[in-house]
Amino acid sequence: MIKRIVVGIVGLVIVVFIVLLLLAWESDIAPQSPPGAETFSQERIDRGRVLAGIGNCQSCHTTDTDQPYAGGLAFETGFGTLYSTNITPDPDTGIGQWSQEAFNRAMREGVSRDGSHLFPAFPYPHFANVSEQDLEDLYAYTMTREAISAEPPDNTLRFPFSIRLLQAGWKLLYFDGPTLAGDASRGEYLAEGLGHCSACHTPRNSVGAEAEGQDYDGALINDWFAPALSAKQSTPVAWTEDELFLYLRNGVSVYHGVAAGSMADVVHQGLVEASDEDIRALARYFHDINGGGSDAQAASQSATAIRTAQERTANSLSRGEALFTDGCASCHYNNPDEPNIMRPEMSLNSSVTADDPTNLIRFTLEGISDEAGIQGVVMPGYAYWSNADLVALFEFLRETHTDRPAWDNLEQRIQALREHAGNGKE
Ligand code: HEC
Ligand code: HEC
Ligand code: HEC
Repeated sequence: MIKRIVVGIVGLVIVVFIVLLLLAWESDIAPQSPPGAETFSQERIDRGRVLAGIGNCQSCHTTDTDQPYAGGLAFETGFGTLYSTNITPDPDTGIGQWSQEAFNRAMREGVSRDGSHLFPAFPYPHFANVSEQDLEDLYAYTMTREAISAEPPDNTLRFPFSIRLLQAGWKLLYFDGPTLAGDASRGEYLAEGLGHCSACHTPRNSVGAEAEGQDYDGALINDWFAPALSAKQSTPVAWTEDELFLYLRNGVSVYHGVAAGSMADVVHQGLVEASDEDIRALARYFHDINGGGSDAQAASQSATAIRTAQERTANSLSRGEALFTDGCASCHYNNPDEPNIMRPEMSLNSSVTADDPTNLIRFTLEGISDEAGIQGVVMPGYAYWSNADLVALFEFLRETHTDRPAWDNLEQRIQALREHAGNGKE
């Protein structure tokens, strides 16, 4: 009797295993010889270029700007390091032998041409929303880039996370295919599809999927903090549609400061060629998401926040106050009724108001280059300041320029980010 039960259970396990294997199995799509450039009209290639920008393909697939799209960029995950692939049309090391069908399957289902499952560091769960027409144009653009022979380094993911077949289980749990309804607005289509904005701005769960019910609540990703864009935004001025438009178009908003860190690439490389209509559509979509404010509200919220910060600063006798007044205020002081777009105002800035201090630490240590933030404008770096001075400065800013609780472990975080940036200081 017992023997029969055991045999039955073993049999059942084997059947379940085979069924899972069959579900996980994807066939390979036959290689083809690379399509010649003449296959594609210039119009399609041009549209594809704009789309590739919106999808930020270049940022993730380029390590050396002389070798665009040749891959090899490292993604640190909780499970080890993964490298982006070469997506130039090189037949051996890139995707030169991929048909349109193989390309579409990778973009929409996260399956490589040979049938192996791709990891979701590649934002295919978003790209699943991209239309047929847009995929064709993207394919035309990708297949007409310069073919570069380059192998990315081997991934160093820990066992069992290294097993690609197991990604089928991840997909079963977290991947729903296309998520947009047929009547999605243009802004939603761009943000939730190619733009994959939530890939950075939504927190992730323990296995790297975007956490449910926390859309756009802000997240730490690749050592930058992508601030909340939902009603959870920490800044005192609610985003208006116009400020969102200006930020996404030019990389700077008078009430929110500049787009730097990994957002600099999104604005200054990714969205540069997107039309004003598309940027406007994105602004409208995010204005709806954050329940945003009106222009009149913004002006008064801003004036109140700046005035409060200035009063508290005047009453502060702290070491941080002296450091700020001597080191920073000459460029960051504002008239409360008329803040200057060239002088990001600390009391309005998410780097100071957010729950996570990463951006404030990094901007202060590393400065901001002329390509990031406002084009052609730089902010000097302060890596030569001691950790103790930086802690005093940041504690002062947090206390006087926001109404939010103090940050924990500032000293350790400053030290960790120094080491990360190669800014080690004796
Ligand atoms: C957030 C980073 C990121 C962005 C943005 C991104 N990719 Fe990738 N992509 C990756 C990573 C990482 C991989 C490798 C995944 C793996 O090995 O499982 C990858 C893999 C791929 C593959 C599969 C290649 C192969 O050999 O299996 C294709 C095709 C691809 N990307 C195309 C694109 C295109 C086109 C865009 C822009 C629309 C894009 N990617 C944007 C990170 C990204
Ligand atoms: C690669 C990661 C990444 C992607 C993708 C990304 N963002 Fe960001 N975003 C960031 C980071 C990091 C910041 C903080 C930058 C700073 O303060 O200078 C930011 C800042 C912002 C801000 C300003 C928030 C504030 O309070 O200062 C807005 C608005 C924004 N992003 C919108 C978008 C939109 C819209 C998209 C999609 C089109 C997008 N982001 C895609 C990383 C990303
Ligand atoms: C010489 C003028 C100057 C000084 C001094 C200066 N800054 Fe800046 N800062 C700027 C400019 C200009 C920008 C915008 C940079 C850009 O867009 O490229 C900026 C940007 C920033 C940002 C990013 C704001 C945002 O919108 O995301 C932070 C944070 C910041 N500064 C903090 C400081 C701190 C802290 C100090 C003192 C330790 C300081 N700055 C000293 C000119 C200065």
